[in-house]
Amino acid sequence: MMQPCSLVIFGATGNLARRKLMPSLFQLEEAGRLPDKMVIVAFGRRPWERDEWVEEVAGMLREKWGENVHAQTFERFKERLHYLQGDLHDEAAVERLKTTLSDDTRFPGNMIFYMAIRPSDFGESIQRLGAADLLNEQNGWRRVVIEKPFGYDLLSAQILQQGMHKHLKESQIYRIDHYLGKGTVQNVLVFRFANLLLEPVWNRQYIDHVQITHSETLGIEGRADYYEGAGALRDMIQSHLLQLLTLVAMEPPAMMDAESLRDEKVKVLKSIRPITQNAVHAHAFRGQYTRGMVNGQMVPGYLEEEHVDPRSATETYAAVKLYVDNWRWKGVPFYLRTGKRMAEGASAINIRFKHPPHHLFRNTPLEQSRPNWMLLGLQPKECLRMELQVKVPGLEMRTRTTSLDASYRHEGDAEFDAYGDLLLDVIEGDRTLFLRYDEVEWAWRVVDPIVKVWSMERDFINTYAAGSWGPRGTYRLFEREDQFWRHSLDAKGADLEAY
Ligand code: BG6
Repeated sequence: MMQPCSLVIFGATGNLARRKLMPSLFQLEEAGRLPDKMVIVAFGRRPWERDEWVEEVAGMLREKWGENVHAQTFERFKERLHYLQGDLHDEAAVERLKTTLSDDTRFPGNMIFYMAIRPSDFGESIQRLGAADLLNEQNGWRRVVIEKPFGYDLLSAQILQQGMHKHLKESQIYRIDHYLGKGTVQNVLVFRFANLLLEPVWNRQYIDHVQITHSETLGIEGRADYYEGAGALRDMIQSHLLQLLTLVAMEPPAMMDAESLRDEKVKVLKSIRPITQNAVHAHAFRGQYTRGMVNGQMVPGYLEEEHVDPRSATETYAAVKLYVDNWRWKGVPFYLRTGKRMAEGASAINIRFKHPPHHLFRNTPLEQSRPNWMLLGLQPKECLRMELQVKVPGLEMRTRTTSLDASYRHEGDAEFDAYGDLLLDVIEGDRTLFLRYDEVEWAWRVVDPIVKVWSMERDFINTYAAGSWGPRGTYRLFEREDQFWRHSLDAKGADLEAY
């Protein structure tokens, strides 16, 4: 049975809480998954009374689901909501938080502290909680959830880690990467390790290359404050996309427990061939969006967004080529790319197989036939698809692409946001889908040389029009001329511009 706990959210009025955390907690309430007596405490600077906070939360849920918020569930949910005014930078306010949490019997002694705050405040906040003795596990467990990015490069991640370890054991830290909570992402493991027929072909002998894409039509959504210092490489590739790469490339873990799984992911990260600083341009490409049409609407360029430095060279698009130098993958390029204000919003892992070795159909139209693809669509539609070539009925030897669809989601199946799954794991104390420190550190080692070179080259950045598929010229990352970005999961998406 799940133990009651107090979930304290720092930054509860911010974007993350509004868009993801509160709606996910409400969905868990609806599904009857929150423990009895669990309370949700918002700690924020605004001078609000509890009723005002409850109204605010109702507004967040309406923003997500309109008037379809189930009234009875909300009545139950609102009983859990509390608001405490204060600022994490203020020692006295943290002391008050501690007194309230320990003296008021409505607040269970097991506590989760959720850091939905600016990454640059993580270190100081944890230090304050530690100094106020809030992280001591004498009267119940204490867990801290940290959002990404964990540091802004290798060195700062190491410093942050040292600071945190003064107050927390590794087992108390939940470094969240919400991609690991997405249904299809977890399904990559099932797909790979529960289907014997994939294993023999899942290697350098059969796979030509792997593409991992996350594109968004959205811009930076008023987050210039954070994004200007982060950029696409840190925001998406160092974290989410490298995590996806590890799941595609890892060896089967000995067991499905948290440590065995994370051990295998770390092995992949350690095997990624280091990019030397003078090879950065051959392995990485960046770009920034300019004004353009997205979904029929003219949108401003990055430099015109509010609070963005008009001379900023922050990248809103990044693509990298990586090699995993181990027995399974040596020589197979992994292309990772992400961008804001792109033509479509979608995330997918697309795996292209090699051509058959024997040109049996030489001198027929089949010589041109397309290779097989394995497509794992993560969002907006979750799908698992394999593209094969079949003969077109008729007298001639022509082929067309057909796909075997192994999608596991049916119309009307309940959809949970990734955060719901992960919040439940924190409540239950399951760290399998959270990042261990060495994963974060090795991921920084992969991107650090690129971060360094790009931060020195502030005078020029390639651009792309909002609503397009990114800057021109990224094709130079590809190893060969027959490799292209695969933009779409439809069969017609297999032939695309090189860019
Ligand atoms: C976040 C990034 O971690 O992931 C955002 O900071 C990005 O910039 C978001 O938009 C994408 O997540 P999702 O779940 O919408 O694909």
